[in-house]
Amino acid sequence: MTAFPSPTPDFLSRFESQLESSLDDPRHSDREPRVLLEASRHLAFAGAAKRMRPLLVDYFGAALDIPDHHRLAIATAAELIHTASLLHDDVVDEGTHRRGRPTANRQWNNSVAVLGGDLLLCIALEQLYDLPRQVTVDAVTLVAEMTRAAMLEVEARDSGGWSLAEWEDIADGKTGSLLSWCGVAPAISAGLPDEARRFGQCGRHLGLAFQITDDLLDLIGESARIGKNRFADLHNKNPSYPVALARSRSLPLRTALDELWSKEILSTQELEPIAAWIIELGVPALTLERIESHLDLALEALGEFSTTAGGAHIAGWAEQLRAMARNSLEGI
Ligand code: IPE
Ligand code: IPE
Ligand code: MG
Ligand code: MG
Repeated sequence: MTAFPSPTPDFLSRFESQLESSLDDPRHSDREPRVLLEASRHLAFAGAAKRMRPLLVDYFGAALDIPDHHRLAIATAAELIHTASLLHDDVVDEGTHRRGRPTANRQWNNSVAVLGGDLLLCIALEQLYDLPRQVTVDAVTLVAEMTRAAMLEVEARDSGGWSLAEWEDIADGKTGSLLSWCGVAPAISAGLPDEARRFGQCGRHLGLAFQITDDLLDLIGESARIGKNRFADLHNKNPSYPVALARSRSLPLRTALDELWSKEILSTQELEPIAAWIIELGVPALTLERIESHLDLALEALGEFSTTAGGAHIAGWAEQLRAMARNSLEGI
């Protein structure tokens, strides 16, 4: 998804400076072993990063007119938590390609990627010291939720028999929760619990719509456009919305997939016919419906805030995601 403009002048360039300073902090930057920050920077500053979470924080913050420095602090924490989760995810998934670059686990090793991710989580929480304590408390709860979801995903993959309900719990924990926090934290920083609930709901639905789109692109997108290997989810038995839906709709497909998944070594070519079969079952169109219903629920939660500057950007972002999901179906 291409970057969407920000309601705050120069927000993204100020965000990049703040992200740079957070990693350049003398508490960390001059300390050995330097490889942890080196690997973190390799991922954090990869040009293909979309910075969607920082932008969402800016939009939610603008809808409530919270001070810029609070938006920047929350945005930096959100991107660092996300970056840490990607370092960890690529270890768990044995990913080789991320944000158009080799993954940290590939370029260095698993230890560097895991410990680099842990350090980034600490640096993320440091960004919140000047905000009300509840913002940090929620961030800690969020990291715990994301961690549990990552483990649930590993377990689901090992069992291979995950259902749509399990998919939903995992997607909510790994993606919905962070986008929800992007809405909650600005409102809590301004002492507005009602808005925090609404924005949290809005963010959660945006997150689910986004995760389903990511799952769909794994199936029907092109590697070059998505910046990571196509069929990575299918290959790794990762819970994915369209695959869960296809498994629930066709027993023969489920059996064929289970048979493939029982093989020691699986090539991408062997996955092509399964992907074609899932497409034939009409799953992409049903997946699009689900994406759109989450987007509608996100806009409903936003309610009258959609007419504020930041709210209009959130609505625009949701429509951009809707258009991208619709377009992705055109070429298949
Ligand atoms: C990737 O997130 C992980 C998912 C939640 C699907 P993004 O697609 O926002 O990744 P970056 O930050 O742009 O690399
Ligand atoms: C998002 O999910 C990962 C995290 C939120 C950590 P995915 O596993 O679908 O992300 P990709 O597909 O590897 O980018
Ligand atoms: Mg992954
Ligand atoms: Mg994915």
